[in-house]
Amino acid sequence: MCGIVGYIGNKSAQFVLLRAMEQLEYRGYDSSGIAVLDDVINVYKGACRVGNLRNSSPRFVGTVGIGHTRWATHGEPSKVNAHPHLDCGGKIALVHNGVVSNYRPLKEKLIAEGHVFLSETDTEVIPHLIEKHYTGNLEQALAETIVQLKGSYAIVAIAEGEHKLVFARQQSPLVIGIGESEILVASDIPPLLEHTNKVIYLEDGEIGVADQNSLKILKNGKETTRAIVPIDWSADQVEKNEFEHFMLKEIYEQPRIINQALEGFFHRTAPVIDAEFMRYKKGKGLLIFACGTSYHAGLIGKYVIEELLDIPVRVELASEVNHRERTIPVANVIAITQSGETADVLTSLSRLKQAGCATLAITNVKGSSVTQLADKVTYTHAGPEFGVAATKTFIAQLMELYRLALLQQDTEENLREQLIVRLSQLPDLVQSVIDNQDQIKACSRYLTRFSNVFFIGRGINYPVALEGALKLKEISYIHAEGYAAGELKHGPFSLLQQDTPVVAIVNRDACYDAMVTNIKEIKSRKAPVIALVQETDTEIPGLVDFTIRIPVTHTLLSPIINTVALQLLAYFAAKFRDCPIDFPRNLAKSVTVE
Ligand code: G6P
Repeated sequence: MCGIVGYIGNKSAQFVLLRAMEQLEYRGYDSSGIAVLDDVINVYKGACRVGNLRNSSPRFVGTVGIGHTRWATHGEPSKVNAHPHLDCGGKIALVHNGVVSNYRPLKEKLIAEGHVFLSETDTEVIPHLIEKHYTGNLEQALAETIVQLKGSYAIVAIAEGEHKLVFARQQSPLVIGIGESEILVASDIPPLLEHTNKVIYLEDGEIGVADQNSLKILKNGKETTRAIVPIDWSADQVEKNEFEHFMLKEIYEQPRIINQALEGFFHRTAPVIDAEFMRYKKGKGLLIFACGTSYHAGLIGKYVIEELLDIPVRVELASEVNHRERTIPVANVIAITQSGETADVLTSLSRLKQAGCATLAITNVKGSSVTQLADKVTYTHAGPEFGVAATKTFIAQLMELYRLALLQQDTEENLREQLIVRLSQLPDLVQSVIDNQDQIKACSRYLTRFSNVFFIGRGINYPVALEGALKLKEISYIHAEGYAAGELKHGPFSLLQQDTPVVAIVNRDACYDAMVTNIKEIKSRKAPVIALVQETDTEIPGLVDFTIRIPVTHTLLSPIINTVALQLLAYFAAKFRDCPIDFPRNLAKSVTVE
């Protein structure tokens, strides 16, 4: 959710922190703040984006500091609720990502002991607890503090008179970057890349202490060693380059990402998911769970796995798995999460693991929390994604699901060969959707006239309708609903009229005739229809108001091409409406609270 960063080195901490915070803004952008240590702790913060903070901030000297970009949970976005938070004396400052679930009783006790609180945040109890335990050694005081905290946290703290960074984590991410005469800690890898590609992942319950040239990690009070992991992302990947928005850049990267996925398709040996993983165990099936766009990838994965492997697959929203009274009776589970940090996914996964399930995670981020939790991990290799609306990571998740299904020996040989040929054509087909974007742009412009839009599909393109609607609503703020085409008549028909357009995703497959009937029913209610059709289709264009022509592929692969067209549809609608595409209102990319 929030982004936190700490720096100690030989450069201006203020300069490094502000740059790093810009690269963490996708995690939250309703407030920002920094604290820089010289003889005293200097704090500057506000309910503003990092760019505004930079422009208005006084200059601080000092080579040690901490920074924060906020996505409000406790207390509205305001200067006083923005991080860093301080103790009473202003001698300890810290930034926090996570939620301290027992902050109320802690706060009441601290107030009774004379501590004065300024903010409504859960975080503010932490500097006060540190102050209470502080006897001149920050890591010791932090160690005594974290045992009192419940919930999740990644914390970076500094104290007047101690030239070091002290940090800790529990269920919220924190990565340490080891540079030349400098150490950074951050919620995610991108801000580290300009400094180093050598990282260490802090684990739950650990405390780190860094000065410019040395790092100490403590586990249960004892010093422990941790391997340095090289990162293969480059600093260039975290730039927008010639693109106006990260989202557009990421859409344009998709042909290359599919190509790259194909290159590794059958050669990537580790970790190969053995056939047993996908099979029944004790008569129980496979459960896929995820949130947001990753959930839609899971729904498409269900069609692919059921079709290719004849295994019943159940797909659930992670937020509906984690608080059930009885654990869902399954044997094998797949968690899909691009960030690897989504709280609902992590709690569901740990619950299912405790219940004895074999667990596999599909993620895009090495060393993320999900990789520490799942029995097996497979990566989507999409590179860093910054647009809050997921695009390329979704396509990479689909590619990984195809790979997992095709790797199993049970796949029928003919179908397998057919799919392999069709898969190899995908990069060119996706490129042609991008190249022919004018037809999509015209539809986007048309959609901006309306306040409500339906997206419909059937079969494997039903989840694509859900994803198309999600993309449109999250970045253009036009209300959109994804629906199974056959379900419209069970309610939403009452809403269909001239000012409620319907985007219909139509593939020449077993669902085709039913889709044609649905479109005719919609047209009889005078609702405008935009149809995504295969370029060879001659029937549908005559029935609808607008057509987006899409290259032909195998039905099982059609979600890839159709989704790219819908990503562009949403992107241009948001652009015509002048929306902040990479930073949609109230959202964040990595949702680390339940
Ligand atoms: C947030 C993002 C979505 C994403 C969802 C799940 O809501 O804005 O784009 O699909 O989280 O994230 P995950 O990292 O678990 O895939």
